[in-house]
This record gives sequence, structure tokens and C-alpha cells, in this order.
Amino acid sequence: MKVPEQVRRLALLIAILAGVTLLARFVLIPRALVSTDLHWAEAVQREVAKPVKFAGAVACQDCHEDVVVKKAKGFHKGVTCETCHGPAAKHTEEPGAVTPPAPRDRRFCPACHTYDPSRPTGFPQINPTAHNPLKPCISCHNAHDPVPPRVPRECAACHAQIERTKAVSSHALIACTTCHKAPERHKSAPRAALPSKPETREFCGTCHSAGTAAKDAPKEAPKVDLSTHGGRSLCWECHYPHLPEGRT
Ligand code: HEC
Ligand code: HEC
Ligand code: HEC
Ligand code: HEC
Ligand code: HEC
Ligand code: HEC
Ligand code: HEC
Ligand code: HEC
Repeated sequence: MKVPEQVRRLALLIAILAGVTLLARFVLIPRALVSTDLHWAEAVQREVAKPVKFAGAVACQDCHEDVVVKKAKGFHKGVTCETCHGPAAKHTEEPGAVTPPAPRDRRFCPACHTYDPSRPTGFPQINPTAHNPLKPCISCHNAHDPVPPRVPRECAACHAQIERTKAVSSHALIACTTCHKAPERHKSAPRAALPSKPETREFCGTCHSAGTAAKDAPKEAPKVDLSTHGGRSLCWECHYPHLPEGRT
């Protein structure tokens, strides 16, 4: 019986395809690409040949013992130096020429501390938009030994609203008792012994007066000319002292 023409063509086509495939597999494609053994061996060589960028978890000990000791006792004992300071191998070789950056920016810490339901229960988490939003984290927490700062909690226990307001204001770091002298008895019999309240413009001027501010006034406090600014009105007729940026 005669084989039909189209079947012969199909057979020829299949034979050519098979031939090309075998040729490519065993002749054209280099063995290195086909053999998984060679492939792995080369990948290892390639990785080993890369320059080392990380110095490793113990490399900082020799020169920064104080930081190492401090961190080892604190909550960040499990976070390595280079997690925050980046690869620092070059720095360990030439400490004077290359210094690793320090993540002082507020945006850094939330990478691990933003509230995320998938994190283990009890892991310290915060909501960065609500948690003291106006200050860098390191103005209140030491990065090498992060504990919540000691705030005058007692006032907050009864004046929670004022405390919460102040915490998001530019006066966040000023203790209540800087502006109010509170007798001890106020905490047990609050109405019987009231704390003082600032009474004069000069009081705010100790930090804010251009020229006449106290020597130990914080440098970040913006300065105004006390003799003209706000006329003769008391400062808190326009600035709520617990949230001074909100003007009325
Ligand atoms: C051989 C000693 C040596 C080693 C090892 C070393 N450092 Fe330093 N480091 C220094 C010296 C010295 C300075 C101060 C350099 C300067 O101020 O110019 C410094 C400064 C720094 C600073 C300060 C940068 C700043 O902004 O103030 C950081 C951060 C730092 N090192 C991190 C590390 C880390 C992380 C390691 C480990 C991976 C490490 N160092 C290992 C000697 C060393
Ligand atoms: C959680 C992140 C974090 C870790 C982990 C960390 N650092 Fe830092 N480090 C910082 C930040 C932020 C600053 C800047 C602090 C400042 O300016 O007040 C800093 C500052 C420094 C400085 C310069 C100022 C100083 O306090 O002496 C050195 C040196 C330093 N770190 C070394 C180290 C070493 C060594 C380790 C590991 C033992 C380490 N750091 C681990 C975040 C970290
Ligand atoms: C690589 C992840 C990581 C980064 C980045 C990091 N932390 Fe932490 N932080 C941790 C871990 C882990 C703990 C310990 C959690 C525990 O003990 O359960 C912790 C604990 C804390 C605590 C809790 C202390 C307490 O009383 O519970 C504070 C505050 C804190 N970190 C502040 C910071 C600040 C500020 C920065 C930025 C300079 C920072 N963290 C960056 C991982 C990180
Ligand atoms: C104005 C000071 C201040 C600033 C700025 C600040 N914190 Fe705090 N932080 C506190 C105080 C006070 C507490 C403890 C009371 C509380 O939970 O509010 C605390 C608690 C924490 C805790 C522990 C929460 C827990 O549930 O155990 C973490 C984590 C933390 N802060 C991280 C940060 C990070 C990250 C930043 C920067 C994005 C930051 N803090 C900025 C004052 C501050
Ligand atoms: C046990 C609760 C409690 C504690 C703790 C407490 N207060 Fe008070 N405070 C009160 C009460 C109640 C009043 C009276 C409110 C009223 O008369 O409307 C008051 C009034 C005040 C006033 C207003 C005085 C006036 O003349 O209007 C100031 C200022 C004040 N407290 C500051 C503080 C400071 C600062 C602290 C922390 C050192 C503090 N308080 C702690 C309960 C408390
Ligand atoms: C920068 C100074 C300053 C700081 C810090 C401050 N206060 Fe005041 N506070 C004032 C002044 C000024 C007034 C008087 C406002 C008025 O008479 O309208 C006042 C008024 C008050 C009053 C009377 C009720 C009210 O809201 O006017 C209370 C209560 C009070 N403060 C509590 C606190 C507590 C609690 C803290 C800490 C969480 C605190 N203050 C921190 C300056 C301050
Ligand atoms: C102990 C020093 C101190 C005292 C007292 C003080 N302030 Fe301030 N104030 C500051 C500091 C510091 C800042 C700026 C904080 C920052 O932005 O880092 C500030 C910020 C301000 C701002 C600028 C808000 C903004 O960001 O636009 C106003 C307004 C202000 N204070 C008003 C007052 C008034 C009113 C009083 C008196 C009731 C007062 N302050 C008492 C330290 C002080
Ligand atoms: C009549 C209302 C009024 C009075 C009273 C007043 N201020 Fe102001 N203050 C303002 C206004 C409005 C601004 C914003 C515009 C500007 O910067 O002049 C301001 C801004 C400020 C700033 C921020 C300046 C800056 O560079 O960011 C400070 C600090 C300040 N005032 C402190 C005070 C102090 C301290 C007193 C009391 C001695 C006071 N103010 C009294 C209305 C007032």
C-alpha cells in the first residue's frame, strides 16, 4: 500500500524537529547551562567572588564596646548593628575614611514597629501617624536601648485629654511641671490644693522671647519680639498652651 504524500511530509517534519532538538541539546547549548551540577558549582563561585559588604554581628565589638554592651542588655539585643547602620565592612577596615549612616529619620523605625496584625502578639507596635508624630523617634527612645521615656504619668492619669493633646503638639517634650507648680497634695485632694498656672507673657518669653530668653531655653523654640508680638494680650488668648500651633 502506498503511503500518502501528506503522511510522508509529516514524518519528515517530525524527523527534522527531533534532529534539531537533539543537536541543540547535546551540541549547541554549552554543558554548563544544561548540567545542574556545573550550574550550581558556578553559582557558588560567582557568589563567593562578590566583595563582602557586611562585617558581621561581632565585628563592631572591638571599637564600639559601649554600644555593644548597652544594646546587649536592651530590647534591641536581637537586632544586629548592620540592620540599622547598613553594610559596614568598609568602615571596619577604614573607620576614619568611611562611616556608616545612622538612621535618625522618623521614617526608619516604623519599618519594624508599625502596627500590623500579622506580627506576634506582644510585639511592641505603634501607629506612626498617632504616636507622637512631630518628633523623631530617637528624641524619646534610645535606639541602642529603647525603653519608653519616663513621662510624668501622674498628671496624665487625671488630665488625660490635656496629656494626649500635648503629646501631639510642639510642646510634647515640655513637662507639665515646667509650667505648673503642683503641690504633692494635688494628686490626692486635687481641688483642695490647685497647681499654679502661668500668669504673665514673660513666662512664655523665658523660652520664646527674642533676645531676653533664658540661657538654657531650648534652641528649637521659635523666637518672637515680646514687646510687639500679640499686643498686650496674654499669650494663651491666642495660643492654647497645650497645643500652641492651633491658633484661635
Ligand atoms: C577599627 C575600629 C572600628 C570598628 C571595627 C567599627 N567602628 Fe564604627 N567607628 C569607628 C571610629 C573611629 C568612628 C568615628 C569616626 C569619625 O567620627 O570620623 C566610628 C563611627 C561609627 C559610627 C558613627 C557615625 C555617626 O554618624 O556618628 C557608626 C554608626 C559606626 N561607627 C558603626 C559601626 C558598626 C555598625 C560597626 C560594626 C559593623 C563598626 N562601627 C565597627 C571605629 C570602628
Ligand atoms: C535599631 C537600630 C539601631 C541598631 C540595632 C544599632 N544602632 Fe547605632 N545608631 C542608631 C541610631 C538611630 C543612631 C543615631 C542616634 C542619635 O543620633 O541620637 C545610632 C548611632 C550610633 C553611633 C554614633 C553615636 C553613638 O551613640 O555613639 C554609633 C557609634 C553606633 N550607632 C554604633 C552601633 C553599633 C556598634 C551597634 C551594634 C552593637 C548599633 N549601633 C546598633 C540605630 C541603631
Ligand atoms: C529590624 C527591626 C527593628 C527596627 C528597625 C527597630 N526595632 Fe525596635 N524593637 C525590635 C525588636 C525585635 C524589639 C523587641 C521586641 C520584644 O522584646 O518582644 C524592639 C523593641 C522596641 C521598643 C520596646 C521597648 C518596650 O518597652 O517594649 C521600642 C520603644 C523600640 N523598639 C523603638 C525603636 C526605635 C526608636 C527604632 C528606630 C531607631 C527601632 N525600634 C527600630 C525591632 C526593631
Ligand atoms: C515625644 C516622645 C516620643 C516619640 C517622639 C516617640 N515615642 Fe514611642 N513612646 C513614647 C512613650 C511615652 C511611650 C510609652 C507610653 C505609650 O505607650 O504611649 C512610647 C512607647 C513606644 C513603644 C512601645 C509600645 C508598646 O505597646 O509597648 C514603641 C514600640 C515606640 N514607642 C516606638 C516609637 C517609634 C518607632 C517612634 C517614631 C516613629 C516613637 N516611638 C516616637 C514616647 C515617644
Ligand atoms: C487625682 C487626679 C489628679 C491628678 C493626679 C492631677 N490633677 Fe490636676 N486637677 C485635678 C482636678 C480634679 C482639678 C480641678 C479641676 C476643676 O476644678 O475643674 C485639677 C486642676 C488642675 C489645674 C488647674 C488649676 C486651676 O487653677 O484651674 C492644673 C494646672 C493642674 N490640675 C495640673 C496638674 C498637674 C501639672 C498634675 C501633675 C503634676 C496634676 N494636675 C495631677 C485632678 C488631678
Ligand atoms: C508651656 C506651658 C504649659 C505646659 C507644658 C502645660 N501647661 Fe497646662 N496650662 C498652661 C497655661 C498657660 C494655662 C492657662 C490657660 C488659660 O488660663 O487659659 C494652662 C492651663 C491648664 C489647666 C486648666 C484647664 C485648661 O485646660 O485651661 C490644666 C488642668 C492644665 N493646664 C494641666 C496641664 C497638664 C496636665 C499638663 C501636662 C500634660 C500641662 N498642663 C502642661 C501652660 C502649660
Ligand atoms: C521650656 C521652654 C518653653 C516654654 C516655657 C514655652 N515654650 Fe512654646 N515652644 C517651646 C519649644 C521647644 C517649641 C518648639 C518645639 C519644636 O518645634 O521642636 C515651642 C513652640 C511654640 C510655638 C510654635 C508652634 C508652631 O509650631 O507653630 C508657640 C506658638 C509656642 N511655643 C507658644 C508658647 C506659649 C504661649 C507659651 C507660654 C504658655 C510657651 N510656648 C512656653 C518651648 C517652650
Ligand atoms: C493676638 C494674638 C496673639 C497673641 C496674644 C500672641 N500670639 Fe504668638 N502668634 C500669633 C499668630 C497669629 C502667629 C502666627 C503668625 C506669625 O508668625 O506671626 C503667632 C506665632 C507665634 C510663634 C511662632 C513663631 C514662628 O516663628 O513660628 C510663637 C513662638 C509665638 N507666637 C509665641 C507667642 C508668645 C510667647 C506670646 C505671648 C508673649 C504670643 N505668641 C502671643 C498670635 C498671637
